[in-house]
Amino acid sequence: MDALVSAPAFPIPDNVFAERVVSVKHYTDRLFSFRITRPAAFRFRSGEFVMIGLPNAEKPVYRAYSVASPSWDEEVEFFSIKVENGPLTEHLQKIIPGDTVLMRKKPTGTLVLDALLPGKRLYLFSTGTGVAPFASLVRDPETYEKFEEVILVQTCREVAELTYITELVEALAEDPLVGECSAGKLRLHTTTTREASPRMGRVTDLMRNGKLFSDLGLPAISPETDRAMICGSMAMLNETKYVLESFGLEEGANNAPATFVVERAFVG
Ligand code: A2P
Repeated sequence: MDALVSAPAFPIPDNVFAERVVSVKHYTDRLFSFRITRPAAFRFRSGEFVMIGLPNAEKPVYRAYSVASPSWDEEVEFFSIKVENGPLTEHLQKIIPGDTVLMRKKPTGTLVLDALLPGKRLYLFSTGTGVAPFASLVRDPETYEKFEEVILVQTCREVAELTYITELVEALAEDPLVGECSAGKLRLHTTTTREASPRMGRVTDLMRNGKLFSDLGLPAISPETDRAMICGSMAMLNETKYVLESFGLEEGANNAPATFVVERAFVG
């Protein structure tokens, strides 16, 4: 198959990088990841997002995508949903190595370590592709300098949707830069809701009924020791925020660090 877009047919604005697709991996009929070249001038903090588009129109459709790779990586990785008739993802899901992807130059976002007060334990709560910013943070050595324990939670409908993060965390053990500092600190806790698996249920329910904590062998979440980040659908964000507040945590932001943060930019 030929590359979808071998050379941009439209002029690239000054605030946009045009990068080459390096690799693409499909996990299910709903999920895929891809890596693009990283421009030397692109700096971001692990956990931030950028706007992504394709050079297939004079005014391309852009969507917010969390950078899934850590800030030290030579390429930029994304984890994406495939939306049927989605203005961007119906085309994006067809990219192959050599194609061009557009990335606006300015990253931003709330899921950054600086937005949290110091603490002992960091919980990263995600559903679906909401795990992407955490794929970045768990590969950043700074996360382990700041926290003694990091608990990454992903809830998906089906087991196959957990493959991306499961493989990533397994590979981390062998990583020369992060393997050692994450060893014994990072724990991955995955659950499914629509397919039978060893751990089932929505993370919100598992926090409310205490099963998350008993499975992890930890006390219930507490503002004294615990910090949290949330990324998922709007319904999941609102519900998880409500549950965390019931445990006494408070929402923070870049300019006002507190005990948890929420990312409200999502992919369509
Ligand atoms: P469920 O299967 O019970 O709807 P989606 O693919 O639709 O974004 O969902 C990803 C995961 O998020 C699913 O496992 C889904 O569970 C779960 N989910 C959906 N809404 C919420 C919510 N309000 N709180 C927690 N988890 C949710």
